[in-house]
Amino acid sequence: MIRSIDQLELTGKRVFVRVDFNVPLADGEVADDARIRAALPTLRWALDRGGKVIVASHLGRPKGVDPKLSLEPAGVRLSELLGRDVVLADDCVGDGVRKLVMDLREGRLLLLENLRFHPEEEENAPAFAQALAALCDVYVNDAFGTAHRAHASTAGMARLVAERAAGFLMKKELEYLGKVVEKPEKPFVAILGGAKVSDKIKVLDQLLGRVDALLVGGAMAYTFLRATGAQVGRSRVEEAKLQVALDLIEKARKHGVRLLLPRDHVAAAGPDSAPVAVKDVAIPAELMGLDIGPSTVEAFSAEIARARTVFWNGPMGMFEKRPFAAGTFAIAKAMAACKGTTIVGGGDSAAAVAEAGLVEEMSHVSTGGGASLEFIEGRELPGVKALEA
Ligand code: 3PG
Repeated sequence: MIRSIDQLELTGKRVFVRVDFNVPLADGEVADDARIRAALPTLRWALDRGGKVIVASHLGRPKGVDPKLSLEPAGVRLSELLGRDVVLADDCVGDGVRKLVMDLREGRLLLLENLRFHPEEEENAPAFAQALAALCDVYVNDAFGTAHRAHASTAGMARLVAERAAGFLMKKELEYLGKVVEKPEKPFVAILGGAKVSDKIKVLDQLLGRVDALLVGGAMAYTFLRATGAQVGRSRVEEAKLQVALDLIEKARKHGVRLLLPRDHVAAAGPDSAPVAVKDVAIPAELMGLDIGPSTVEAFSAEIARARTVFWNGPMGMFEKRPFAAGTFAIAKAMAACKGTTIVGGGDSAAAVAEAGLVEEMSHVSTGGGASLEFIEGRELPGVKALEA
């Protein structure tokens, strides 16, 4: 059983909230604040109930202290969004931090500096976990995006604190993604894309046991197409995964899953060359597929329109380049129009939905890339496990 933050008494308590503020930065500012916004309900709740709120996160993968990876820009953005002062500590443990925590008043917020400035965070070192735990009376984990990491702040410290709970974001993520894993309303359609089959084998395998239709796009689709004997020209193919692709196709057949692969493409001589519409499944020898074509979009959209549950992870093409973005945006639109529950796994697909301005049209856009995939694969997330009573 996992408690949620609204089941705890917070007034006057030192409340440690682990968030995932691992956000992209540009010119010293937060370039995408989705993860900061997603933590606001939990932080507001704790502040409004008179908690002394200690917020902690990692940012990037620093090797020791790296000023470029300070949480300061995140603190500035958080303060703007909350409309309250945010004090930034210059470390996350040590005497200075202990003093700041001692002086922290009810309804005030202290942001600790990047946890990963200490290698002990990722090592889940017991003494470091203990030092973090000693700062607080209550531990709240709202960092779903980091729940697949067994680090000191996500796993090690949880049981060293008297009371622990999930934040509202963590709860929402587990609820929506849990629906995909446990009891999706049917028809259930999954759309998977992205560069490599090898990154998605386990998730494909899991989903094939549950979905009614699986739609495959992105570069990984060319490995599937090649495995079926189709001509894919110079498209990216993982030769070593052709048998895996065939096994997955066979599994789909056995389970009666409609497995849809691209039937037309937007191709080019290379990612920086002019786009060429390929109206057939076969891609000419001198071209590589870089996006799904309009007929594929139509077929995928028809499946999405009929679905009661849709899960999407991974772009349909090289969407960061305008000429190859149409397929990915069309899928975002089809999901926005779907009447069922629509869930977007994090990472690139979440970025595409944001770019299309369709976040509000989805039932849930996950803040976790790796974490949401591991969850769908059926793996236990250490950050979730550590919250259990
Ligand atoms: C993420 O962005 O996926 C999480 O914040 C985890 O970051 P990591 O992959 O560096 O552990």
